[in-house]
Amino acid sequence: MLEGKLEELSQGAVARVRAAANAEDLEAIRVEILGRKGTLAAVSKDMGKLAPAERARIGKLLNAAKQGLEAAIEERKKAFAAAALQKRLDREWMDMTLPAPGPRPGSLHPITQIQMEIEDLFTSLGFTVLSGPEVETEFNNFDALNIPSDHPARDMQDTFWLEDGNLLRTHTSPVQVRGMKRLGPPLRMIAPGRVFRNEEVDASHEHTFYQLEGMMIDREVSIAHLVYYMKTLLGGIFHRSVTVRLRPGYFPFVEPGFELDIKCLICGGDGCPVCKQSGWLELLPCGLVHPNVLRNGGIDPDQWNGFAFGLGLTRLAMMRYVIDDIRLLQGGDLRFLRQF
Ligand code: DAH
Repeated sequence: MLEGKLEELSQGAVARVRAAANAEDLEAIRVEILGRKGTLAAVSKDMGKLAPAERARIGKLLNAAKQGLEAAIEERKKAFAAAALQKRLDREWMDMTLPAPGPRPGSLHPITQIQMEIEDLFTSLGFTVLSGPEVETEFNNFDALNIPSDHPARDMQDTFWLEDGNLLRTHTSPVQVRGMKRLGPPLRMIAPGRVFRNEEVDASHEHTFYQLEGMMIDREVSIAHLVYYMKTLLGGIFHRSVTVRLRPGYFPFVEPGFELDIKCLICGGDGCPVCKQSGWLELLPCGLVHPNVLRNGGIDPDQWNGFAFGLGLTRLAMMRYVIDDIRLLQGGDLRFLRQF
């Protein structure tokens, strides 16, 4: 009788082990059957009532049933472990032969981009790119450019003076003087760079900003040459032909001096908020180089003349990308810079 019960029990248990859904279920089944208070333990208790010969026989059967069950449990455990490993391998699979993703590409600052475009354009027109120092002499920044120390034009450029009498250049125009002295006429040069003024910082003013100076000296240079080069420059930057006009403008180092405006690119001249309803955008000051400046650069104004211009690179970048706060360009915020 006990034998039949044992047989039934062990067959049922093996079937349950094989059907166990996961490791936890399996453990529960193991405890229920093989545990100290489990079903098989109850059977072995009942064996006490048997005759010794019968007890030995049933005892053997009991052990066989136990071993059979333990083997079934072990087999099932292995199957679970193999399935778990396979799942992990599937999840963590990768193709080691694929190329590595590489570093995230950076990009050039919008001002650098415009500067490089203009450099390309002017070098294609035979101009040399010069750079001058950011710490300048008073003479190069002012006197040589026809701005003596008592000249009111000095007040327009709030200057950072250094204790040794030098200064942080307030514009790129002193590179004109260096270029004339170093290279002599005929001369075609541009000079991009950083300039400094003691300004209160707000949405449209910075103490540090970028300009690009240009100068061409040759025989009989005229305003027509100036306009031609400026139109070429602006067409190159804005990728379309632009209409320009000259208004008189005063700068001690040019005579005559102009403010060059372009017809507003947003409204085409009808008037809009960008051009403050005027139809024109003030873009760059320029003029024919003053004879005193040529002389200070060691060039004979009776033999040579030329034009010069000063482009606000920072302002140009703001116009091209419609950036309404100058501080964004200086702040180093990657969320802003990644857009370019
Ligand atoms: N240096 C002037 C400034 O920063 C701009 C300028 C005006 C430059 C006229 C020029 C020029 O070369 O011809 O305000």
